[in-house]
Amino acid sequence: MRSKIVAGNWKMNLDFEKADDLLFQIGEELEKNTPQNVEIVICPPALYLELATDFADEIEFKIGAQNISQHTGGAYTGEISAQMISSMDIDYCIIGHSERRKYFNETSEELSQKVANLLEFGVQPIFCVGEQLEDRDANQHFDIVKSQLKEGLFHLSSSEFSNIVVAYEPVWAIGTGRTASPEQAQEMHAFIRTLITENYSLDIANETSILYGGSCNAKNAKELFSQQDVDGGLIGGASLVAKDFIAIANSF
Ligand code: PGA
Repeated sequence: MRSKIVAGNWKMNLDFEKADDLLFQIGEELEKNTPQNVEIVICPPALYLELATDFADEIEFKIGAQNISQHTGGAYTGEISAQMISSMDIDYCIIGHSERRKYFNETSEELSQKVANLLEFGVQPIFCVGEQLEDRDANQHFDIVKSQLKEGLFHLSSSEFSNIVVAYEPVWAIGTGRTASPEQAQEMHAFIRTLITENYSLDIANETSILYGGSCNAKNAKELFSQQDVDGGLIGGASLVAKDFIAIANSF
């Protein structure tokens, strides 16, 4: 059965002391209220990955990076590679977040290179897809998500694809307080699962975790996660508040 996953994307927030505090508070909340059969993933800024791995020795959660380079190594000042994060026991890496597509002009070609690098070093990509508001208004949302998946992932072999987590994040819902309705999320998640079935197999589709992201919070998580094809969430703002983040992880 596919895993239920709640991943916190801290983005470019918190100084070192606040990051340390938040990890400590997440540990406290987890002790009070441990989610059953849910994988918790924390994706801090790269600078704090090592700090997070120290906490993960004591507390039950996994760690994800927010990005890696499309290059494998060498003279790329300021970049970090898949091999580097793999050597630090990082389990996941977010790829293709809409903020990276928009502000850093990441192309599908670069994204598929990043996915290849991660798979080579045994790190699981959390691959983000999602449409802009104008795409939805023009009824193009299915086509957009389909082409993002096709260009970024569907060239992978079945065994490679088995390591992918997909996150559906409608861009109009990210950081806006305007979440997709449970029906809108379910409709798109079911569509994604059908595409995976068509490109791979029903078994692989049923084993793939598909997360919802975009203004998911402690109030709306339960209804979103109760949808048949919603296997958890990629949480931005609400992952910066320990109580809310762990409440979301307890919302299945
Ligand atoms: P949000 O961000 O929960 O703050 O909307 C989600 C994300 O960008 O992953």
